[in-house]
Amino acid sequence: MTVHFIGAGPGAPDLLTLRGRDLIAACPVCLYAGSLIPEAVLAHCPPDARRVNTASLDLDAIVAEIAAAHGAGQDVARLHSGDLSVWSAMGEQIRRLRALDIPYTVTPGVPSFAAAAASLGVELTLPGVAQSVVLTRTGGRASPLPDGERLATFAATGATLALHLSIHRLAEIAAELGHHYGRECPVAVVWRASWPEERVVRGTLASITALVGETMERTALILVGPALAQEGFEESRLYAADYDRRFRAGRLEAVKP
Ligand SMILES: C[S@@+](CC[C@H](N)C(=O)[O-])C[C@H]1O[C@@H](n2cnc3c(N)ncnc32)[C@H](O)[C@@H]1O
Repeated sequence: MTVHFIGAGPGAPDLLTLRGRDLIAACPVCLYAGSLIPEAVLAHCPPDARRVNTASLDLDAIVAEIAAAHGAGQDVARLHSGDLSVWSAMGEQIRRLRALDIPYTVTPGVPSFAAAAASLGVELTLPGVAQSVVLTRTGGRASPLPDGERLATFAATGATLALHLSIHRLAEIAAELGHHYGRECPVAVVWRASWPEERVVRGTLASITALVGETMERTALILVGPALAQEGFEESRLYAADYDRRFRAGRLEAVKP
């Protein structure tokens, strides 16, 4: 018996990996994290699978479900939205599984920041503008930020910021980041990226709060940084005409004596 942690992607059912789909189809038990897992993804479960929405369960109750499946020798598909490497609560579940000696695997998913960037049609790292993306959030009641991880500290780098779990603090964030990036720095807010009801609002740190207004709650990502302007950057050296490609795999025909 194995617990398969599966990143279910940002919402669009066809942004699930083939491996994730096949594991869901093979598991007689599916635990899924609430309304962010679309019905079309759950439809890959076998028809008689036990499907449990864990949104209202605490960790003990979730582990009890897994332990019961373990006792019955049934594999479990454990679905979380986006990818599992960020804000999935997978870490605490894995710690319990290790203590119980229950085997597990991890299958990655499309993270929401990547889905939001795709909706915007932008590259978040542009030569000479930004070469780093910071995946972060503002502190919450359940998860205060560790001391070194202040927004101002990340902003001081000038990197592109992808702020999760923070749309309710947009005004505060825009005001603080204005001191570092300048008030005309571009911002985009993507609500429910890849869902049919997706909404995108583009603005600047000065204008974004008014543009978004009260219209978006919860499942939204805030992207901030000069790279969002998609202009004023250099072309990468990789594809420059005078770049020496002699040692690139598959390009041996370009070698001249
Ligand atoms: C608990 S975290 C889960 C993050 C997830 N593991 C990931 O890989 O993106 C939930 C936050 O992720 C962001 N999020 C998740 N899905 C999203 C989507 N489809 N569109 C925009 N933001 C999304 C929002 O900031 C939301 O508050």
